Amino acid sequence: MKRFLPLAALVLLLCACSTGEKRVAVFLYDQADPFVASLSNEIESLWEGTIYRLDVYDGQKSQVVQNEQIEMMLRDPVDLAIINPVDRLGAYAIIRKFQEEDIPVIFFNREPLEKDLDQWDRCFYVGAKAEQGGQIQAEMIMDLFGGDPNHLNRFDRNGDGVLQGVIIRGEQSHQDSEIRTREVRKRLKEEGYAFELLTSLIANWRRKEAYEKMEEVLVLHEGRLEVIFSNNDEMAEGAIERMKERGFFTDDDGNGVVNRDDESWIPIVGIDGLPQAIRSINEGSLYGTVINDWESQARAIVDLAGTILSGREPDESSFELSGGKAIWTDYYPYLSE
Ligand code: GAL
Repeated sequence: MKRFLPLAALVLLLCACSTGEKRVAVFLYDQADPFVASLSNEIESLWEGTIYRLDVYDGQKSQVVQNEQIEMMLRDPVDLAIINPVDRLGAYAIIRKFQEEDIPVIFFNREPLEKDLDQWDRCFYVGAKAEQGGQIQAEMIMDLFGGDPNHLNRFDRNGDGVLQGVIIRGEQSHQDSEIRTREVRKRLKEEGYAFELLTSLIANWRRKEAYEKMEEVLVLHEGRLEVIFSNNDEMAEGAIERMKERGFFTDDDGNGVVNRDDESWIPIVGIDGLPQAIRSINEGSLYGTVINDWESQARAIVDLAGTILSGREPDESSFELSGGKAIWTDYYPYLSE
């Protein structure tokens, strides 16, 4: 593991290396996405005080819009681009464009296919391994149910030795929905836990969509539901909001915290760890989250960008560049104390 540069050194690296003004463009798939917004704000604040100019574009969930923004930028080209592609499977075309202009690209959060990244040695990816996120969610739930698949504790409400659950999924074809979902189920199975998927629903990372879709799920499965795995916290929050309306998560003694010994509590785990989720964990509604370390991801992006802009080799970045292509950050479990 490489050691991370302290912030001051990072700023120096970005300042020390250039004559003339250099420009960097950040393309976001959707600035209204709270996780992406936090990551992008972090990039902007790390960038402050450097001599480089940073322009941020919001793709508003449309690849057509993002393509237009890229085309416009290419008429007055920047020195480096940081891209959160709307359609990660379409990254090939984007890479070709930047390769033609020889503008290095750092993708983040929405992972291009390996074969697309491999087509050019000046494009990179910064993100977290989706596998790890799903595995940690499964581990938090196995611990909660007592850690022994043959003797589930009182959270197995109907005492049948099986976890009855719902999975709330993000966007289809996003690596973080597909892989996190797969790994939750795989990890439970590997450890010998029987899991009955009551239903899985797609809520595209959004709180409101999860809130709306949970209504039907609760009508059909309310009495059997023992656990909810959500691909992110926003959707977990939507589910909690709907469940509160149906009498779950009551704070009977009014002390501001939901007591999990109360019958109306159901464990829900999310991913991201933004402040709203931490508040929900502290008030006892959300059981836990998995921190998707946006601060480290932002530092890695800025560090790699600074290394490239200063004319050094990408693998001289203070973050480990795996296979010469990707910087991976770890996920961390977060439960209330
Ligand atoms: C995931 C994150 C989601 C959403 C998505 C957007 O990594 O967990 O909340 O932001 O990225 O691509």
